Amino acid sequence: MRQDAWDPDQYHRFAAERSQPFFDLLDLVQPGPDGIRLAADLGCGSGELTALAAERFGVAEMVGVDSSPAMLAEAAAHARPGLTFTAGDIGQWTSAGDHDLVLANASLQWVPDHPAVLARWVAALRPGGQLAVQVPANHDAPSHTVAWEVATSPEFAAALGPAGPPPDPVAANVLRPEEYSAVLHELGLDRPHVRLQVYPHVLPSSRDVVEWVKGTTLTRFQRVLPADAYAEFLARYEARLLEVIGHHQPYLFPFKRILMWGQVRAA
Ligand SMILES: C[S@@+](CC[C@H](N)C(=O)[O-])C[C@H]1O[C@@H](n2cnc3c(N)ncnc32)[C@H](O)[C@@H]1O
Repeated sequence: MRQDAWDPDQYHRFAAERSQPFFDLLDLVQPGPDGIRLAADLGCGSGELTALAAERFGVAEMVGVDSSPAMLAEAAAHARPGLTFTAGDIGQWTSAGDHDLVLANASLQWVPDHPAVLARWVAALRPGGQLAVQVPANHDAPSHTVAWEVATSPEFAAALGPAGPPPDPVAANVLRPEEYSAVLHELGLDRPHVRLQVYPHVLPSSRDVVEWVKGTTLTRFQRVLPADAYAEFLARYEARLLEVIGHHQPYLFPFKRILMWGQVRAA
């Protein structure tokens, strides 16, 4: 069993597709006349997007926070004066209310109770500070539902033990776009912007969906299954997924994401 199932190499296999929503998120941020002095990138992963954001907005002090030792080890290569990376739990993270920007790309979905977490993140902002968050919302797609179908089959009951298969945190944690708009409104953010966007990824073949989810949703099974059982799980998953979505070259993998932005009212 592995404690840290984040594999930066696997995650980066679809770097171009995964980074587009990040750039769309940055487009929502308004640097303003005073620029962005202090910012946090929560769930920063391997840090290259954190560095890009810091550079784009000329951030004086940017901190990337992550809980994965493997991701933080990669992020260390991007550290420089004014850009640091630190271990921490983004679900509990907040600050003294002095941040100009709190950014979180594809990380909030891993923690529960989004109204409470977003309240802590908004409390970390100074008046005029901005929140920009992106979460995947593709948990109803076959890529995700087939993983659950295979994990709940009798074949894996013994390997998974009495706790059973780990539930999909995205399905459990991610709210509907209209619920996020209510949360941001209740937190007093000015002009909250929430949108559901579909990213039509064209993958070389339907089999590449397996490679995609190996870097994200399947990591939770990798964490709890012994290596040989995980290999068997992957084989079953692939066979069943291809049965459901078919064999296509190329394959259109439509991926839904929620992007949200809001600004604390200036004092
Ligand atoms: C899908 S990656 C996104 C990385 C980066 N933001 C990007 O856009 O490429 C999600 C990251 O969130 C981190 N993460 C998940 N749960 C976390 C938690 N509770 N506290 C801190 N980091 C967490 C993971 O370690 C991982 O690096």
